[in-house]
Amino acid sequence: MTEAEAAAELERLAQEIAHHNRLYHRDDAPEISDADYDALVCRNQDIEAQFPHLVRPDSPSRAVGAAPEGPLAKVRHALPMLSLDNAFSDDEVADFVARIRRFLRLGDDEPVALTAEPKIDGLSCSLRYEKGALVLAATRGDGTTGEDVTPNARTIADIPPRLPEGAPDLFEIRGEVYMSKADFAALNARQAEAGGKIFANPRNAAAGSLRQKDAAVTRARPLRFYAHGWGEVSQLPADTQLGVMRAIEGWGVPLSKDLEVFTDIAPLLAFYRGIEAKRADLPFDIDGVVYKVDRLDWQRRLGQVARAPRWALAHKFPAERAETTLEAIDIQVGRTGKLTPVARLTPVSVGGVTVTNATLHNADEIARLGVRPGDRVRIQRAGDVIPQILENLTPDADRPAYDFPDHCPQCGSEAVRDEGEVDVRCTGGLVCPAQRVERLRHFVSRHALDIEGLGLVHIESFFRDGLLESPADIFRLHEKREALVGRERWAETSVENLLAAIDAKRQPPLDRFLFALGIRHIGEVTARDLARLYRSWSALTATIDRAVDVRATFEPALGEPEKKTRQRRDAAVVAAIETPNIGPEVANALLDFFEEPHNREVLAAIFAAGVEPADVVWETKDSPVTGKTLVFTGTLETLSRDEAKAQAEALGAKVAGSVSAKTDLLIAGPGAGSKLRKAQELGVETIDEAGWNALVAGTR
Ligand code: IVH
Repeated sequence: MTEAEAAAELERLAQEIAHHNRLYHRDDAPEISDADYDALVCRNQDIEAQFPHLVRPDSPSRAVGAAPEGPLAKVRHALPMLSLDNAFSDDEVADFVARIRRFLRLGDDEPVALTAEPKIDGLSCSLRYEKGALVLAATRGDGTTGEDVTPNARTIADIPPRLPEGAPDLFEIRGEVYMSKADFAALNARQAEAGGKIFANPRNAAAGSLRQKDAAVTRARPLRFYAHGWGEVSQLPADTQLGVMRAIEGWGVPLSKDLEVFTDIAPLLAFYRGIEAKRADLPFDIDGVVYKVDRLDWQRRLGQVARAPRWALAHKFPAERAETTLEAIDIQVGRTGKLTPVARLTPVSVGGVTVTNATLHNADEIARLGVRPGDRVRIQRAGDVIPQILENLTPDADRPAYDFPDHCPQCGSEAVRDEGEVDVRCTGGLVCPAQRVERLRHFVSRHALDIEGLGLVHIESFFRDGLLESPADIFRLHEKREALVGRERWAETSVENLLAAIDAKRQPPLDRFLFALGIRHIGEVTARDLARLYRSWSALTATIDRAVDVRATFEPALGEPEKKTRQRRDAAVVAAIETPNIGPEVANALLDFFEEPHNREVLAAIFAAGVEPADVVWETKDSPVTGKTLVFTGTLETLSRDEAKAQAEALGAKVAGSVSAKTDLLIAGPGAGSKLRKAQELGVETIDEAGWNALVAGTR
């Protein structure tokens, strides 16, 4: 894989995974199976491991789930609710243990005890008990902010309203809300009879039942709960994972019946095989086994990477498979003109779930599989609805291959695939109605401007009738109040509500506004990075304008090969943008957008319609090294490098590999050489490992 291919693939994966995260976590409506999802995440990780410098600011390896939305109140978690890293093979489990040993610098004969328990397919929930009483129940949401489901949780029999005498003053029990397979089937049968919503699987049924505005609905649903951990606590009743879990059980909260501790890998893997063997007979869906380091002092030292703790691992089961016929390949057109093929299948039951669609990703995937409509295919799914095609069972070299469209099915413009790209894109740009509608939809979507009451149906019908053509028109809709009121199903109050919702978004946060523009490669995380750094639209665009000049006036050196010039120009552009995590691809995309006169016009029109992105107000964290750049050098004696780096990052510091004028602090162990000398020359403050440990201890 070339670097350009890797970058393109990482971009595609970031977008695709974010999309599936939203469908799964926010909408409870997944379109692909868990196994497919895991495959995407794995592929992303593999490519990131091969090309670490291409890791994107919006990389899926950095985020958990999707921010919640809907009518329930949002609550910030006292401690983030994390996700788990996945393993699919015995080797990966052995690697996990080896990593822990290295990180903690354990001797070879020091046993690492791990707990093991089934991974239930439900949704995680945090139960906060203060002075013994349940005061808050919250869903995970994006890991930082969840939804308040307290009244709903109170209806679940497994969740005690009070903990017994002797429980700590403050204790957050975390665990899984789930529905048994039998209860799920019975619920769907009742729903079908009553003409209600049919759930895709027990997990969706549990999520849909818990996240209800009216707790009476939840009460009528057969939800269960089991604990698998904890969040903020005033005191821990034991110093091992198992000890704390048994204490929680003693307070009357159910745990998994299968929960054991192992110090050797062989019996641990035998436990996994045993659970896998009885999987079909268990009364609830599980999708793997979770391992956790038993010693809590080690858990604390191991800490977390991005979205998941270093001390836990989900060992997943392989996916389920079936055969069916590929009936048709539909082409969908996205916001950036990307043509995405979707496989329509003859309905088939896979592990008890009816499957009708499969993802095909892109033209290469179709070519790799060699599938055409009419072929028999083997498909795979694990937990959810749209699976993946594994293989074509009726390959026939004589029949012509599937012809990927070279014209957009929506607007008829030419569809092209640029060099080094995996996707075919419609070149229609703003001529293409599909792209224009998708852009408008993106502009108002939840994670962009979040204009309530302006959903896809409305965007499409307003667009069709000429009420909306570009984002600025949204902020001019009040001029068309009369035309709106006259529309079918739009009463005066709903029009007023919509106009008020629009008015409420005239000063959008800078990061949301940037994200809303739908600039290629500028996802939510990159938009946030840019907004945090520049803090105002004018400061940001001033920098971009300078960078546009740098790029436009860049001169090749005499006799220099084109590739070299491009590299130097990219480096100059990246330097001009001056934003950590932003590489040439993202920087160039940003400049391309602002260089394009049409985009300038669109922006000018948005501002003329009375929109003013709000400045970012600075957030501060409390530590002497927050926002500072640190360098570690020499031998560290009590910590591994990884642990030291993790500590620094947890305090909001950046760790660099070399000393420069930008270095704020050097931590030098014995044997430090050139970096220490350089720091002394530059007058950089220097401390030793003991000084560092004292600094970290002082922040606890
Ligand atoms: S531990 C910090 N244990 O799986 C670790 N999670 O894929 C937090 N899950 O968000 C999770 N069974 O909702 C843990 N025995 C178990 C679990 C479990 C199911 C869920 C949980 C978590 C997700 C991660």
